[in-house]
Amino acid sequence: MKLINLLAATMLTVSLASAEDVMKKSMSIMENGMTQIQQGFLNNNLELIKSGSALVKEGNALFSKKEVIAEYLPKNKKHMVNVAENAAKRIDLDVTVLELNLDDKAYINAANAYSDMLNACARCHSIVRSW
Ligand code: HEC
Repeated sequence: MKLINLLAATMLTVSLASAEDVMKKSMSIMENGMTQIQQGFLNNNLELIKSGSALVKEGNALFSKKEVIAEYLPKNKKHMVNVAENAAKRIDLDVTVLELNLDDKAYINAANAYSDMLNACARCHSIVRSW
């Protein structure tokens, strides 16, 4: 019995540790992506916008499952997991909207999709950080 407990505790620690890596990895990929998109718009560099948008999509995919997100919400905010999950869904949608608008050369609309992404980042962070 004790060995089983020890084993369970070890597995829990390992899974928590790797889950932490997932959050840090996801956020850092998205941060890079957002920076590239911003630089792309400011400098009129389409390739940077596109590569940034691909990064945001990749990073967001790592942190969009409800179970994963819930692990990072403070105890008193667990009930807001749906709102947090919606922020991740919104980012995914915004990436698509941004890319479609780029294809159409509708750059203002593409830039608006970028702004909406940024709002979605803030939406989830406001929950986690009690902003
Ligand atoms: C579904 C929730 C959620 C969304 C959406 C989200 N984040 Fe985060 N983010 C977190 C959590 C949880 C943390 C860790 C707690 C903290 O830093 O307050 C975090 C932390 C961060 C950090 C600091 C990372 C670190 O290692 O401390 C950065 C940078 C970041 N996010 C960038 C972004 C960007 C850019 C976006 C939007 C493209 C975004 N996040 C969207 C939940 C989210």
